[in-house]
Amino acid sequence: MTDDEKLLVWLLLLGSSSLCFCSELDVQCLKSLQRSLVDPNGILASSWNFIANNVTPGYICKFTGVECWHPDENRVLSVRLGHLGLQGTFPQGLQNCTSMIGLNLSSNRFSGPIPSDIWRQFPYLTSLDLSYNSFSGPIPVNITQMTYLNTLNLEHNQLSGEIPSEFNGLFRLTSFNVAGNLLSGPIPILLQKFTPSSFAGNEGLCGAPLLNNCPRKRRRRLRLHRINKESSMGAAVGFVVGFVVAFYFPQWFIFSRRLHPYIFRI
Ligand SMILES: *[C@@H]1O[C@H](CO)[C@@H](O)[C@H](O)[C@H]1NC(C)=O
Ligand SMILES: *[C@@H]1O[C@H](CO)[C@@H](O)[C@H](O)[C@H]1NC(C)=O
Ligand SMILES: *[C@@H]1O[C@H](CO)[C@@H](O)[C@H](O)[C@H]1NC(C)=O
Repeated sequence: MTDDEKLLVWLLLLGSSSLCFCSELDVQCLKSLQRSLVDPNGILASSWNFIANNVTPGYICKFTGVECWHPDENRVLSVRLGHLGLQGTFPQGLQNCTSMIGLNLSSNRFSGPIPSDIWRQFPYLTSLDLSYNSFSGPIPVNITQMTYLNTLNLEHNQLSGEIPSEFNGLFRLTSFNVAGNLLSGPIPILLQKFTPSSFAGNEGLCGAPLLNNCPRKRRRRLRLHRINKESSMGAAVGFVVGFVVAFYFPQWFIFSRRLHPYIFRI
């Protein structure tokens, strides 16, 4: 089966399962999400009212920012918490929303690193939007194992380091943005199809589609320089040795018999 077929079968299974063991997990997921967020405007506090005896199917689907697969089933399709003034580090517990395919935390005040095991937490995400926050540190290399990603928006954070070259494996990406970060180094080939504005505002990024070429690799130049130095030293030593040998042992130096008389005459 191709990946697409696998995804389709997986979605069909999800859609048709009448025995859903996941809904209690999804409630747990939103509970721990709420606990891990700092919510100064109290928006989630007022909208996310968990019912003690979890009998009402689909009640979490009415929570602000929560979208379910079916309105009468506690199974989270996506979590969209843009523009809510939320704070804290990357939220914990979301991996228990095992059917979630979209996560949007855009335009809040989240900070700290993007977890390096994000791919393990959300292997089936098709859309991830962490834009306009203060996430810092590197773009995790393993984000490239989230192979269903169509949309990845990391713009306007404080991410640093290089864009992992492994991005060349994310063939489904149709929307990508890392503008306004602190990234540096070359842009991976697969990402060069996106517009320059997707990469703008990162002083150190170079290569297509941006206009500034990447500097040639420094290490190779250093090595070349060293080779040149060694070979010129080798030539100098060779010259001295050759001179000494020719001077003291001319019979080793010149093999031609016809030259012998001249040599002995010297
Ligand atoms: C995420 O949410 C913001 C605002 O809430 C919205 O503008 C943006 O389009 C959303 N991102 C995606 C990928 O849907
Ligand atoms: C997921 O749910 C299980 C069962 O409720 C719980 O034990 C576990 O701690 C949860 N995981 C996270 C990361 O919250
Ligand atoms: C990243 O992926 C590799 C290969 O699958 C794995 O060995 C490694 O543990 C992953 N790292 C993290 C932080 O998840």
